[in-house]
Amino acid sequence: MTTGLSRRGFFHVAGAGIGLLALPPLVHAAPTMQTLRASAASVDLIGADRERPADYSATDVWAYDGAVPGPLLRGRVGERLRIRLQNDIEEPTSVHWHGIRIDNAMDGVPGLTQDPVQPGESFDYDFELTHPGTYWYHPHMRSSQQVGRGLYGMLIVDEAKPLDVDRDLLLVIDDWRINAEGQIDIASFGNLHDAAHGGRLGNWMTVNGQSGPVLPVKAGERVRLRVANVANARIFEIDTEKLGAVALSRDGHGLDKAAKPQDPVLLGPGQREDLVFDVPEGAQTIPIQDVSTGEPVTAATLKVEPSDGAPSQRPALDTLSLPRFGTEPDTDNARVVDLVMEGGAMGGLATANLDGESMSLQEIAQKGYVWAFNGRVGKMDYRLFEAARGETIAIDMVNRTSWPHAMHMHGHHFRILTRDGKPATDIAFRDTVLVGPEQSVRVAFVADNPGKWMLHCHMLEHQASGMVATFAVNG
Ligand code: C2O
Ligand code: CU
Repeated sequence: MTTGLSRRGFFHVAGAGIGLLALPPLVHAAPTMQTLRASAASVDLIGADRERPADYSATDVWAYDGAVPGPLLRGRVGERLRIRLQNDIEEPTSVHWHGIRIDNAMDGVPGLTQDPVQPGESFDYDFELTHPGTYWYHPHMRSSQQVGRGLYGMLIVDEAKPLDVDRDLLLVIDDWRINAEGQIDIASFGNLHDAAHGGRLGNWMTVNGQSGPVLPVKAGERVRLRVANVANARIFEIDTEKLGAVALSRDGHGLDKAAKPQDPVLLGPGQREDLVFDVPEGAQTIPIQDVSTGEPVTAATLKVEPSDGAPSQRPALDTLSLPRFGTEPDTDNARVVDLVMEGGAMGGLATANLDGESMSLQEIAQKGYVWAFNGRVGKMDYRLFEAARGETIAIDMVNRTSWPHAMHMHGHHFRILTRDGKPATDIAFRDTVLVGPEQSVRVAFVADNPGKWMLHCHMLEHQASGMVATFAVNG
């Protein structure tokens, strides 16, 4: 299994570059409609301090408002977000608000909750920000290509009572597949080999749209670090040990209390983790590294400036917490739904049902699919279950493949109950859970948000090739 960020040609991912961090402009939720424009753009993904291909000035991308990530959308819990998506790319698109418990009609899934937004047209999203946390947004049409070309941004919903910190930092981690000219390798979108393996893995890492950005902090100050994995398929492992941080929320959902972060912080595509730490005195720079390849790669560097004065007196990190929401599932009385994942390379899937016909894996692959849920190639018409409003559903996800999957549920958060039958140690409400090869994970949730929702693998090439299901919450 290739997970290495390859360093062919001019690529030197490790080593921090010095440059100003250009965080995207802040757009506060406002009662008026704001336009979010998806269009072609060009951005410098490589950075002036790196070895650049001859004649390189920028990478052609698709972006929201010309920037990668797109504008940071932010509002306080209880406010409304009103966004007019203007589609100026050459194909239909939509915006999905990942992780938000949202009115179903605003969920942004063409074929389920709305029609595709055609080139030149617009669609108005208007919804209440009902729960605080760290979320993101991206298209839900040909996601592998549209997200892979740069269409994504962050959405932060501030708590009613904000966490007392000096600085709120974002670490939006992506990997791109870049060719020798520094351009996106477009010809490899839709590659079935990637789809049958770990998905479209890139060879160039960016954080906040930059290669190895330097983020200024001050000694002694308290920082909230919101880490998000927006890559198509790569699982990042972020080493935060040097920070002495506590983890306060996962996928926007507060943990019961401050926890020791995972070591390293494992983030599948779509997942987020909020950490809080006090910047240590003494160090001048602190690298934040991805260790998923076995070789540390510096994702970003904190540059520690001297403090302004005596650090303010604050409660200890381990006494902090963020609100959690959602009803605790009554797991003893849950209805159990099976979700058996099969297929992919080295998977031994012999036949599966595609559009009502039983076919061999080879026939399925000829049609561009390589995965099955419960023996069926998953598409938008696959209704896995229907729940009565308020019903507790447990889903037994059984991964009979040789690949990890990042299973994402729309409109709800689930609690992770067990892994391989043993109580889960990463106990948390999440909207996306990593299920390892040959692993089984049981999650449970209260189906309390009516509408038609998706449950799919967030490795976007797996999603495109059969790892899709929907469910309905009635009432
Ligand atoms: Cu982040 Cu169905 O998506
Ligand atoms: Cu998958």
